[in-house]
Amino acid sequence: MANFRLGFIGAGFISRFQAKALQGVRGVDLAGVFALKGAKELAAYSKSLGVGDCKVYRSVAELCKNVDAVAIFAPNFARLEIMQKIVDAVKAGAALKGIICEKPLGRTVAEAEALCALAKQTKLPTAYFENQLHMKAIRAQLDQLAAVQRAMGPMSLSRSAEEHSGPHEGWFWDPTRQGGGVLCDMACHSIACGWFVLTPVGKPATFLKPVSVSAEVALLKWGLPRWRNDLKKRMGVDYAKTPAEDYATGVFTYQNPETGQRVKAQFTNSWMYDKRGMRLAMEGLGPGYAFEVNTQQSPLEIFIGDQAAEAASNVESALEKSTASRGLLVVEPNEADLYGYVDEIEDAVACFKKRKDAFLNFAYGLEVTKLCQAAYMAAERGVTLDLTDPKIQQELRTYKSLIAQGRGGEQLYRK
Ligand SMILES: NC(=O)c1ccc[n+]([C@@H]2O[C@H](COP(=O)([O-])OP(=O)(O)OC[C@H]3O[C@@H](n4cnc5c(N)ncnc54)[C@H](O)[C@@H]3O)[C@@H](O)[C@H]2O)c1
Repeated sequence: MANFRLGFIGAGFISRFQAKALQGVRGVDLAGVFALKGAKELAAYSKSLGVGDCKVYRSVAELCKNVDAVAIFAPNFARLEIMQKIVDAVKAGAALKGIICEKPLGRTVAEAEALCALAKQTKLPTAYFENQLHMKAIRAQLDQLAAVQRAMGPMSLSRSAEEHSGPHEGWFWDPTRQGGGVLCDMACHSIACGWFVLTPVGKPATFLKPVSVSAEVALLKWGLPRWRNDLKKRMGVDYAKTPAEDYATGVFTYQNPETGQRVKAQFTNSWMYDKRGMRLAMEGLGPGYAFEVNTQQSPLEIFIGDQAAEAASNVESALEKSTASRGLLVVEPNEADLYGYVDEIEDAVACFKKRKDAFLNFAYGLEVTKLCQAAYMAAERGVTLDLTDPKIQQELRTYKSLIAQGRGGEQLYRK
């Protein structure tokens, strides 16, 4: 049988990571790419990895005509425009079997709703790429603890964190283009993961009903004059004028609709984790049992002394967002697999072949967007937000955080 042909829209950081992940997936080729920049380099990289004879296309329409599914791996601000082009291509006859979109589905609830509405016009299956729910460690703890959970009752507390020293491109730092700061960018992972691990075994990912959220956002490092200047120089973004949060934390309460039991999920995210590199940390606690994941606990550590440091030319080959090239370093030999990218592609392709939505579809992505925006609203208002209140849900549909509006100074520099 011919390999399933994937097409990427965007050829930056995540596209390269997903291309690498394809080395661990059978029967799928990276067959084409369209991007404003970097397409030729991605095609060459794909060939060098042996994951497909990737052709460069000059438009979304051309790409859609020549692949089985497309993945939106372009920046958050380009989602709707790209999705509209996919809809037009399908209406013009492109025989796609599915559409993939990276996190976050939207920068606001309105945007995520618009994306879902556009996808509906194609009648095609969708996949929302939230890699952390596909992580082998997260799935393995579920399998290992399923029997215990059934005997003792589900987990009642989760803690999820994703932290690193800050994103690699200017648009991520600009809240008006990205949709916010670290809450929009990375808490979308941690909120989804915290919700998922609390879900009783065998129930769908949206089974637990959100009851309330309290949250805080702050600018702990990148608002200080020295780091503001550094950011302006390196990324062209001025945090004196349009700051975004580099720290976010909060607590969601969920309710089991069958038993009424309430459970809690804490999330913590930062762009000021100046330690070895990116860290994902998750834990879950149930009555009499628990699990813990820390992606910085690798079986492999290397040491590079000062004299040998010149030899380490590519720091990030050790770990995503690594900040050091000497001393005791953590090396994750297969990050694409560790973070769940391999498994999320496998799941999407297997489902698309059966004409089904992936495990996580766009509708799920919309629910996560609602939770993220609710956290912004709670932080902005300094209240615990009642998510069961229809008035709050209605407000969320048109809500855009002060930070995303470029007015973050009013909140983050408030005395
Ligand atoms: N799951 C994860 O852990 C993870 C990690 C990184 C990024 N992401 C997500 O992936 C998306 C892309 O992030 P990235 O880090 O690769 O960004 P990037 O800036 O490194 O690359 C973006 C790519 O998209 C292209 N592009 C920009 N506008 C476009 C348009 N209108 N049409 C076609 N191509 C366009 C750029 O030329 C570039 O090739 C973002 O939504 C981000 O949130 C997810």
